[in-house]
Amino acid sequence: MADPAQPLAVTVDRLRAAGCVFAEQEAALLHREVPEPSAREDLLRRRVAGEPLEHVLGVVELDGLRLAVGPGVFVPRQRTRFLSRLTVAACRAAGHAPVMVEACAGVAPVATAVTRALPQARVHATEIDPRAAALARENLGAVGRVHGGDLLAPLPAGLRGRIDVIAAVVPYVPADELELLPREAREAEPALALDGGPEGLTVLARLLDQAAEWLAPDGVLLTEIHEGQARRASGLAESVGLTARTHRAPDGVTAVLEARRP
Ligand SMILES: C[S@@+](CC[C@H](N)C(=O)[O-])C[C@H]1O[C@@H](n2cnc3c(N)ncnc32)[C@H](O)[C@@H]1O
Repeated sequence: MADPAQPLAVTVDRLRAAGCVFAEQEAALLHREVPEPSAREDLLRRRVAGEPLEHVLGVVELDGLRLAVGPGVFVPRQRTRFLSRLTVAACRAAGHAPVMVEACAGVAPVATAVTRALPQARVHATEIDPRAAALARENLGAVGRVHGGDLLAPLPAGLRGRIDVIAAVVPYVPADELELLPREAREAEPALALDGGPEGLTVLARLLDQAAEWLAPDGVLLTEIHEGQARRASGLAESVGLTARTHRAPDGVTAVLEARRP
């Protein structure tokens, strides 16, 4: 039985023994977030049993934001900073109080970033999973509205043709590559958040189709994809009358499709 008041070094050893690759960083976070030893011991046991650290702590940090997360919900990835920053820049470029929507929002990391950077923005989020939608509401608070449902369908009808910026991280893992994901993602995050169908572009194709109607003239959809999906994703955007451009992230793997309504 471990002593709950154990020092940081012992937490590192227990995490490392459980196979945690970033044991030092995780231990430091656990000790910082949960100073009370017996509460920390409960969380450490869950982590050692295989739950993602973010689910255990109930929080993830992304680009200076603290976002609530929880079991059964997709954990925002650090790579999504690239999309967030492009989205804030696109909202600024709209040149007025922009209407911004995060579709497939999960816990709404991008929409939350926009509310912090541009308090004048009118921010909405859509999400089909009620657990994720509840956390998105917690993160956005009173400065954004979360609509439960499929892609853009639950948005107020008055936004049709008036959205300046749509941002999305749709599920984009090709169905036959789901088994290659890290065990934590496969076991702790719902397939609904990950499975993009054959080639990973099924949800994106539907979103592009809808975006062509919901975007304002010169409005833009920004969506995170894998770099290898860029050519096919651009083709999908062009097939619904949007112009396409790809932004490549410095990590060499992540890309963002920019699809603009002419
Ligand atoms: C890859 S996660 C991204 C979440 C969030 N944008 C982020 O980066 O953390 C995709 C999210 O889309 C949601 N989702 C999947 N299909 C959807 C649909 N048809 N309509 C709305 N949300 C959907 C999932 O529940 C999940 O929360």
